[in-house]
Amino acid sequence: MNALTRTATRPRHFVDLADLDTETLEGLIGEARRRKAARQGQPHGAADSDKPLEGRVLALIFDKHSTRTRISFDIAMRQLGGTTLMMSGAEMQLAREETIADTARVLSRYLDAVMIRLLDHEMVRELADNADIPVINGLTKMSHPCQVMADVMTFEERKGPIRGRTVAWTGDANNVLASWIHAAARFGFRLRVATPRELAPREGLHDWAMGAGAAVEFGDDPERAVAGADCVVTDAWVSMGDEDAVKRHNLLRAYQVNERLMSRAAKDAIFMHCLPAHRGEEVTNEIIDGPQSAVFDEAENRLHAQKAILAWCLA
Ligand code: CP
Ligand code: NVA
Repeated sequence: MNALTRTATRPRHFVDLADLDTETLEGLIGEARRRKAARQGQPHGAADSDKPLEGRVLALIFDKHSTRTRISFDIAMRQLGGTTLMMSGAEMQLAREETIADTARVLSRYLDAVMIRLLDHEMVRELADNADIPVINGLTKMSHPCQVMADVMTFEERKGPIRGRTVAWTGDANNVLASWIHAAARFGFRLRVATPRELAPREGLHDWAMGAGAAVEFGDDPERAVAGADCVVTDAWVSMGDEDAVKRHNLLRAYQVNERLMSRAAKDAIFMHCLPAHRGEEVTNEIIDGPQSAVFDEAENRLHAQKAILAWCLA
């Protein structure tokens, strides 16, 4: 395909769940489940039987640390028959002030898709706006859409359709919460959010939830948020790029998921965390290692959900 035919139709980016409609997102979850089921018992290195991305190259660009995103995207691409190229932002000319728009135009001449982890969300948007190939958000300061696709898939595996169910968030308002808020609107579940007032979601996100008709309740009381919920979610108290660690720890101590808080949720509620976890801080060992925890299924489902996303972006 040359540059002219590529620009004739805009690529399918995956930057935010808010950009996509319910039908598309539900279709992706269905495809992820189908692919997961179809390769049960296969070694991780074996390709899927259809190899839809044979001959395609995905660049994985990381400006920040990663274990799950990096490995799951690489293996996802291999299982779909494609290949990857791994780079850190620091070793690219981006770090020496080449513009993101020029970078996008150049990458579009070599690659079939880009997955990028960059804290600056607007830079990822700018990359997508200027690229002729799909751009996938692998986490910014504003959102983590691939994670929450895996989380919705995990919820549904354990508890059936998420539509109409109740998810509780306890912690600060970070990137993962923003994608949960987008997901609540698109997948039609209730989300009860408890954050300290000083670490509450920014107004824009609040307004987006209201405008989208999402069933999201914002508050600062973790016990109230968790009461009767089908799922309790938390995340690290200090995200990548956060600076005020001591203050955050002090503000968030009361938001820890422990046996006392978890006992307020529905009896068969599950516990989710995107990982990496800080045991003894946002969650106790009893909960993360206990029977209600779904954290390692979430990590596995990153692989399956991202295969559906890659296949959709490159269809
Ligand atoms: N959950 C998640 O994105 O993990 P990594 O930072 O290890 O990629
Ligand atoms: N909120 C965390 C998620 C890590 C996967 C962070 O941004 O560091």
